[in-house]
Amino acid sequence: MTRAAVFAGRAADIPEGAAVVVELDARVAVFNVAGEFLAVEDRCSHQEAFLSKGFVDGRTVECPLHASCFDLRTGRPSGPPAVRPVRTYPVVVRDGSVFVTRPAP
Ligand code: FES
Repeated sequence: MTRAAVFAGRAADIPEGAAVVVELDARVAVFNVAGEFLAVEDRCSHQEAFLSKGFVDGRTVECPLHASCFDLRTGRPSGPPAVRPVRTYPVVVRDGSVFVTRPAP
């Protein structure tokens, strides 16, 4: 890992479909999507609801406030009211531990 990484938890302790929250340059939600860990900024681009409180369906999360869905791989919303993507973060799993790093500048 070349950039500073933040420990998000043990992979086995993050249930499928759930998210944990870590602090990097922003609040970041790390989701377990069928054993794949994906991280996005934990702030909806519409009105700042916590996406970690949203509903996971496949590789998307539905905002709990107004139901825009975001692709957890790209951060892009699939439709309004959100129109801007949320930031995504690289995730590395090493020896059963999940780490999040800042995106490349
Ligand atoms: S706050 Fe997320 S869609 Fe409105």
